[in-house]
Amino acid sequence: MTTTSEYRPGLEGVVAAETRMSRVNGHIGELIIRGYELEEIAAKATVEEMAYLLWHDRLPDADELAQFSYRLAKKRPLSPTTLSLLKSVAKEKAPVMDALRIGAGTLSLGLDAVGSRELAEAIVARFPTIVAAYWRFLYGQQPIEPDSELGHAANYLYMLTGKRQSLALVRGMETYLNTVSDHSLNASTFTARVIVSTGSDLVSAVTGAVGALKGPLHGGAPGPALDMVFEIGSAENTEPYLREKLDNGERLMGFGHRVYKVRDPRAVVLGEAARKMYAADGDMALYELAKEVEKTAVSLLAEYKPGRNLQTNVEFSTALLLHGLGLDTALFSPTFAVGRVAGWLGHCFEQMENGRLIRPKSNYVGETGRVWQ
Ligand code: COA
Repeated sequence: MTTTSEYRPGLEGVVAAETRMSRVNGHIGELIIRGYELEEIAAKATVEEMAYLLWHDRLPDADELAQFSYRLAKKRPLSPTTLSLLKSVAKEKAPVMDALRIGAGTLSLGLDAVGSRELAEAIVARFPTIVAAYWRFLYGQQPIEPDSELGHAANYLYMLTGKRQSLALVRGMETYLNTVSDHSLNASTFTARVIVSTGSDLVSAVTGAVGALKGPLHGGAPGPALDMVFEIGSAENTEPYLREKLDNGERLMGFGHRVYKVRDPRAVVLGEAARKMYAADGDMALYELAKEVEKTAVSLLAEYKPGRNLQTNVEFSTALLLHGLGLDTALFSPTFAVGRVAGWLGHCFEQMENGRLIRPKSNYVGETGRVWQ
């Protein structure tokens, strides 16, 4: 006699963890990270403070922050093995997310005997180095050595561009990385938790998580939202262009969300970060056009889809911000991973401390009683 249990496709509505990391409330448009509303912390904390908070459930004092930042900066350089592997992968022109997954998998080399906190620091420190080094290899350039005098976000921009960037740009990057650092039990975070729940290691967990994030249903594709702004090209063209799309039954990229049924707090924070950054050090004409497209799109969506409350989503604001930071669209998802990795690791610590092996059930719906002939 076999029993079956209720099947929830996509585990929708199933509670698979208790967490102190973050809480998403889509009905009121709220994201709380370690007790702070996103709007309260994202544009104020450094990436180092945010990572410390995610791993310790409190902000560091000045000494702790200095030591933590120092340790991260020291761990940024990649091993020769990782570098030469990335160089070979670049010859194949693999997508940056694939290179990040491959590079992440090598981070255990030479670090096998260290404790999990030290390993986590090395992972967070080296994710941006992998992305930046690979990006330069792709374009036939030598990677730029990390600069230990720069903070995490400033150094990432430096390794990508070869220049020490303005405070406004660094703050923009910092706000982005903090904003995406954690988002409750999303698919990549769940993947990381499942992996460590077996007693496996942090490098395996983040490598699997990068694989999960790579899928378009999760990591998203912020590129198309901005492509639409470029295609529109001028304020006068905005409404006719958007109406035509909606009349044809097309979706406007960068609007609407499965979970957030009011505003997406990440879109609000990133929109504000983009405003400040473009005003201080950016192409204001593009920014103004993007805002015009956003305003018109939200009002047309209310007209075409009444009652749906379709608002700007995180992809639209991300595209605007990361483009303003000078990042190619191919770097958008890898940069998301650079921000999210601190959250993955915080969840891994929680899982390692309190969790059990994650082992759900399945209902067998196949044949029985087949006979070998
Ligand atoms: N443009 C136009 N119409 C949209 C829309 C958009 N961006 N988002 C939702 N709608 C419409 C749907 O066509 C549907 O209309 P209908 O009931 O008349 O058929 C209604 O709103 C509900 O859509 P549904 O797909 O059920 O909503 P959802 O909450 O499941 O969808 C998304 C969420 C993100 C898939 C959806 O909003 C979307 O496709 N957005 C554009 C792509 C995008 O920006 N993706 C990044 C997400 S972070």
